[in-house]
Amino acid sequence: MVPGHLKGRDLLRIDDWSAAELRTVLGLAAQLKAKQRARAPHPLLAGRAIGLVFEKPSTRTRVSFAVGIAQLGAVAVPLSSGELQLGRGETIRDTGIVLSRYLDALMVRTFSQAWLDELAEHASIPIVNGLTDEHHPCQALADALTITERFGGLEGVRVAYIGDGNNVCHSLVAACALLGADVVVAAPAGYEPDGEVVRTARVAAAGAGGSVELVGDPREAARGADVLYTDVWTSMGQDDERERRLRAFAGFRIDESLLALASERAVVMHDLPAHYGEEVTESVLHGPRSAAWDQAENRLHAQKALLALIVP
Ligand code: CP
Ligand code: NVA
Repeated sequence: MVPGHLKGRDLLRIDDWSAAELRTVLGLAAQLKAKQRARAPHPLLAGRAIGLVFEKPSTRTRVSFAVGIAQLGAVAVPLSSGELQLGRGETIRDTGIVLSRYLDALMVRTFSQAWLDELAEHASIPIVNGLTDEHHPCQALADALTITERFGGLEGVRVAYIGDGNNVCHSLVAACALLGADVVVAAPAGYEPDGEVVRTARVAAAGAGGSVELVGDPREAARGADVLYTDVWTSMGQDDERERRLRAFAGFRIDESLLALASERAVVMHDLPAHYGEEVTESVLHGPRSAAWDQAENRLHAQKALLALIVP
């Protein structure tokens, strides 16, 4: 049931992975979701130990990893940097080497992608990015699983991301491009996604029959879209920019009038937590077109598949 070719791999950012590898995760995620629904045991990682480091708050990532690890028969070891000697100056290198002697994989939520990349360089166990300032690949796995459930795949699906060109946007664009979606990002000037992420995604999209477009008008992005996706305007660590951001993002809210421009089969997605009245209205996110709650659940299934595939 679980192929062995991904054992030992890190998931640091989506565009480190191929489309075929992402499809392997999505396929296993669907199988594990069905097993979990049927309450059929699947202890694919019995006896393993997986560390979870959080340097930022989390509800979904924290709980979905802890529960998923238990369902796989492994033990989750919650760690916070304040409790590790890292906080007192132990080097990333030494921490990576030592944790690799105890754990079979390590999930990390932190600030800097470069810090995470350095940890992965020195650790001999798989490192999973549970969100950095730049990327959120576990979220994109759940997003791709959700879009696949709704539309049968990503090829030809028009995905509109409306809002901040942030970590969630980067990973979503990378996954959509690899899997053949037509993705359009509407962001205000100065808040567009990173140019290197977009260039890499455009190369991937060209190979997969999809496309990546950037626009400045949210209505242009929403018109005919199958997915309207948004995320908070002010990410963790940006709280001192909040007032400026509220002004910059005015007009980028997903509400009934924006949804009316989308395709008849359109769904609304949000990685959560939502800030109602800012990037999305409460009625849309709790309305009949919302896929956000399935999307949140799919974090569990996608991450279980990921761990089952990469933990040696
Ligand atoms: N979407 C997401 O990563 O949520 P948390 O911050 O609650 O983990
Ligand atoms: N962009 C948001 C995502 C939260 C899951 C943040 O980084 O705070």
